[in-house]
Amino acid sequence: MTTAPERTATPRHYLMCRPDHFEVAYAINPWMTAGKPVDSELTLLQWESLRDLYLALGHRVDVIEPLPGLPDMVFAANGATVIDGRVLGARFRHTERADEAPAHLDWYRSAGYRSIRVPVYVNEGEGDFAVTDSWILAGRGFRCTPEGHQEAQEFFGRPVISLELADPRYYHLDVALAVLDGDEVMYYPEAFTPGSRRVLARLFPDALLVGRADAEVMGLNAVSDGRNVILPETARTLAAQLTERGYHPIGVDLSELLKGGGSVKCCTQEIRA
Ligand code: ARG
Repeated sequence: MTTAPERTATPRHYLMCRPDHFEVAYAINPWMTAGKPVDSELTLLQWESLRDLYLALGHRVDVIEPLPGLPDMVFAANGATVIDGRVLGARFRHTERADEAPAHLDWYRSAGYRSIRVPVYVNEGEGDFAVTDSWILAGRGFRCTPEGHQEAQEFFGRPVISLELADPRYYHLDVALAVLDGDEVMYYPEAFTPGSRRVLARLFPDALLVGRADAEVMGLNAVSDGRNVILPETARTLAAQLTERGYHPIGVDLSELLKGGGSVKCCTQEIRA
């Protein structure tokens, strides 16, 4: 039996948004039921425990001011993509979320970022962009467009691998795939078209393949620092698979936010210096 490699965490910088205005006011993905009640106090407690966990792991967490009338703003991952200190703003597919994009750009401007692009084409930030050492993996089919992929490639000067999502429940790449470390990923194959599955198999022959039960509880909406993998606590088989590979899975409960169609990763935008 081979032993799992030693994994090393590196300190990360995250941007989060308090769920002060979170509610399920409209339905723009199959996880949402418009008007479904949300326990605001519990939502905040769950969100705070995620933030506190990041801080306890030694990561830096900045917060962007939540705006009234933007219930999905808690899903901060969608607000921008930041690589090498360069900021690609978002452009939302649905008008309900459109005003989140300029709020994120303002945050970056006041934080002193100078290489900022206001996008021409639809992209929902890290919802559809996942950054590995060698590539930017990009989802399309539901939100981000192929033109949005091209725009990201030109702006970041990194090869973008365009992947087609096949199932509306996995409407963003970050509910179907997560980067664990370097060029190591985990994903749920059934969320992708056959051609895109073959692309993933070719690029990542050693990927951790995730089963349906874990994908269905949003187990892939996870955040890794290279060692610690924060994921929904209900993704139990996945947690065991991660342990086998030498990672340290940490399960969290974000059940209230799941009503909006998001979990750990959706709440967490990574700022890459
Ligand atoms: N209700 C939000 C939407 O449909 C959820 C976004 C979740 N975020 C994510 N990164 N997948 O846009």
